[in-house]
Amino acid sequence: MLIAPSILSANFNNLKDDIEMINQSDADLFHLDVMDGMFVPNISFGFPVIRAISKLAEKPLDVHLMIVDPDRYLDRFVEAGANLISVHFEACIHLHRTIQFLKSLNVKSGVALNPHTPVHLLEDILKDLDFVLIMSVNPGYGGQKFIDHSLNKIEKLREMILEQGLPTLIEVDGGVDLNNAASLKSAGADILVAGNTVFGSVNPLNTIALLKRQADQA
Ligand code: DX5
Ligand code: ZN
Repeated sequence: MLIAPSILSANFNNLKDDIEMINQSDADLFHLDVMDGMFVPNISFGFPVIRAISKLAEKPLDVHLMIVDPDRYLDRFVEAGANLISVHFEACIHLHRTIQFLKSLNVKSGVALNPHTPVHLLEDILKDLDFVLIMSVNPGYGGQKFIDHSLNKIEKLREMILEQGLPTLIEVDGGVDLNNAASLKSAGADILVAGNTVFGSVNPLNTIALLKRQADQA
């Protein structure tokens, strides 16, 4: 199981320490949430912050774009240091074109699905994706409660991936904790994003290791 701590819940007064903690931890990716105040009712951070993180990060940057019309900015996110980029299904009118553009930029390309968007809508694009991000809360904020129905979506998506014989990874984002990590793994998740669970804990380094262990014991 890959673990991707979400920087949204980090301490922005001392971001460097949190980045170094992740470098030293068992985490596999940095999860960076970009919000534009349009697609979601919140605004987070953009290029300067991502660029600064990329200078210190020793693991790939997984940039989750919760923005309308992401095509306008994809090359700039790559320049800023993104290694994986996910765009929202609900934000892309010409998703196939967006994904082809992402591929041309040599980053791992993913599509994120809001809780109400069924996985079967990905049937005709799945083979072009490196990963699918299942939102297990409504996007916009950290620290929300996991929506249980997400487990069914992960199972269905896992079946679709197996049926098509693809290497596509499943990332789960929102409300991931030490109690649901094992069931997420059993349902078919490959990457767990965790914000509040990691940064709200007394010992984030240890929590990252525990999350990985819980999932891998499933
Ligand atoms: C929510 C973001 C998540 C968020 C997860 O819109 O996409 O990545 O940071 O936070 P937790 O793990 O606290 O639910
Ligand atoms: Zn996210």
